[in-house]
Amino acid sequence: MEYQQLAPFPQDFLWGSASAAYQIEGAYQEAGKGQSVWDQFVRIPGKTFKATNGDVAVDHYHRYQEDVALMARAGLKAYRFSISWPRVLPTGRGTVNEEGLAFYDRLIDELIANQIEPIVTIYHWDLPQALQDEYGGWESRQIIPDFTAYAALLFERFGDRVRHWVTLNEQNIFITHGYLTAEHPPAVMDAKRTYQANHMANLANASVIKLFHEKGYQGGNGPSFAYSPTYALDADPVNQIAADDAEQLNANLWLDIYAWGRYPKLILNYWAREGLLPDITAADQALLQDPLARPDFMGLNYYQTTTVTANPLVGGVGLTKQNTSGKKGTSQASGVPGLFKTSDNPYMQQTDWDWNIDPEGLRMALRRIESRYNLPVLITENGLGAYDRLEGAGEVHDEYRIVFLKAHIQAIQEAITDGVTVIGYTTWSFTDLLSWTNGYQKRYGFVYVDRDETDEKELNRYPKDSFYWYQRVIRSNGQQL
Ligand code: BG6
Repeated sequence: MEYQQLAPFPQDFLWGSASAAYQIEGAYQEAGKGQSVWDQFVRIPGKTFKATNGDVAVDHYHRYQEDVALMARAGLKAYRFSISWPRVLPTGRGTVNEEGLAFYDRLIDELIANQIEPIVTIYHWDLPQALQDEYGGWESRQIIPDFTAYAALLFERFGDRVRHWVTLNEQNIFITHGYLTAEHPPAVMDAKRTYQANHMANLANASVIKLFHEKGYQGGNGPSFAYSPTYALDADPVNQIAADDAEQLNANLWLDIYAWGRYPKLILNYWAREGLLPDITAADQALLQDPLARPDFMGLNYYQTTTVTANPLVGGVGLTKQNTSGKKGTSQASGVPGLFKTSDNPYMQQTDWDWNIDPEGLRMALRRIESRYNLPVLITENGLGAYDRLEGAGEVHDEYRIVFLKAHIQAIQEAITDGVTVIGYTTWSFTDLLSWTNGYQKRYGFVYVDRDETDEKELNRYPKDSFYWYQRVIRSNGQQL
């Protein structure tokens, strides 16, 4: 659909930015914090770009006031950040680290004092190492009560000031990268274990949302899903089926569970054929289907789309790892034999890390979520990872980021005009931060942080050109792009 005039953004639209604890805080063993699986994983040779880690990251733990002041200057209405589970529960459960909770108290209060709404992600990948050691983390049923108790602690402590909670950040990524491609901890490559761990994460997610609703906390709760809508390369029917298979396996498998509490039938069949069925009990089904376990919104992390063709069952392309070098054009096709494989899309340009640049894909993602699940959407991440250059007196001319974000905001407005309910947009990211496996050279922020892989330097902050541009966007409620 094309329009002569687009609907305006709602008056209370949550313009913001996002981050994750491990990627910004640093202070990795300060004030009673326990170790997370990332604290250990980054120390395995070859796992991250130039062996970077989040020990110091961008030192947000010590500089949060300066960062919040910059957010206030940009005019952010909302800031999405995650709580580090091992900072508040060093061994994952039991003894609470008051100092850890106090840090988030200070941060939340600072945000509110600056009229910035805190959006809290409960889990952004930094699982307490103690739980990994004790029972294998996400592979055990014990994670369900432990994750629920951790979330309950946060609801009790911060529920008076937080209205929007994100349960799990990108379950599809931390599970597939953790158990299928070994790019994330615990670096397993085993499809059966992948879907078993994924099933536990589904139950943990449902259990937390159910508790939130049962206890009647204010506000809403939902997972953030990394959705890359799939296109078929062309109108060849076999490629269309491949695209549908990819959509089933890469998206509906998660979104159907969140919204409807059931796995897609095509996936159950596929798992049964391949011997990959997780252990699903009647009690699991009851929890997943419980109306109280339905999210209040769908969190959407959108970066790119995927284009696919058919992939032969015998001799087909298997899964490959992501380009973490930042050398454009070094990615390989990735796929599942018998289902689909990725293909270059001639209509799209790519970033230096070979991510497709596709604003219309965001509109597509929003439309598909609306038409299939009829849930409001909170866009919890969207942004451009790029090389930035600090020049002269602390300037960064990131016109390319402005062009990228502008096109994506236009796509959101088109989706709103289409009839999708979008409640906010928190870009990735506010300051530059550690990219899990890409080091510090892949930058996303509105604020440049002066450090690199080998030198922490002074960690000074410099607003980029995009910072002032976003300030205008927010001030005009999306009218001046
Ligand atoms: C999302 C994550 O997958 O994408 C973020 O939620 C992450 O934590 C972001 O940083 C960008 O990914 P990358 O690999 O470019 O840092």
